[in-house]
Amino acid sequence: MDLTRAIHSRRSIRKFKSKNPDWRDIIECIDATRYAPSAGGYNVLKIILVDDLEKIKKIAKAAEQDFIAQTQYVVVICSDTPRLANAYGKRGEIYARQQAGAAIQNFLLELEAKGLSTCWIGHFVESKIKEILEIPDEVDVEALFPIGYEFEKKYSRKEKKNMDSMLYFNLYGQRKMRERGKIDI
Ligand SMILES: Cc1cc2nc3c(=O)[nH]c(=O)nc-3n(C[C@H](O)[C@H](O)[C@H](O)COP(=O)(O)O)c2cc1C
Repeated sequence: MDLTRAIHSRRSIRKFKSKNPDWRDIIECIDATRYAPSAGGYNVLKIILVDDLEKIKKIAKAAEQDFIAQTQYVVVICSDTPRLANAYGKRGEIYARQQAGAAIQNFLLELEAKGLSTCWIGHFVESKIKEILEIPDEVDVEALFPIGYEFEKKYSRKEKKNMDSMLYFNLYGQRKMRERGKIDI
């Protein structure tokens, strides 16, 4: 799939078909995370592919979102943040969040390219997720991703923001681009 098409067509999906995805496809999508930028080249991501249905039920409960339990696979993305904080101090914590976001977007676009769907789950009780998956205390759980095939038609709960409400030129708040000279070729 063309990259621009994948960027534009990706949507959060909260209703899935019973059809089971091929785990190899999911592994390939996880592999895409390795190509995202990382501060100083320290990739501190730790990723858990969960296919134990009992655990998935518990994860859905810890996230207070029942639809997660419709899926046969949940990908849990974590950061071993202290490794970055050791190298960069307080900013290391910011870098951990930023590089997890970049890696997650690679993951989402690769899922989209393979015709798979998910929803980024950021609302969960972290201590419960850690307990279910035996994640060490110092590791941060960034997000959860139930994976399946979309049942509902893609739509966004909200319209996407217009460019002119977010893009400024040269100064914060300046909406007008300066006059550009003609390009002589
Ligand atoms: C950091 C973050 C946390 C999110 N947490 C949840 C969540 O817990 N549950 C949920 O249903 N959607 C969650 N979402 C998905 C957003 O609701 C969704 O991306 C947004 O409504 C835009 O829709 P779209 O993804 O279809 O473009 C989260 C998204 C982000 C980026």
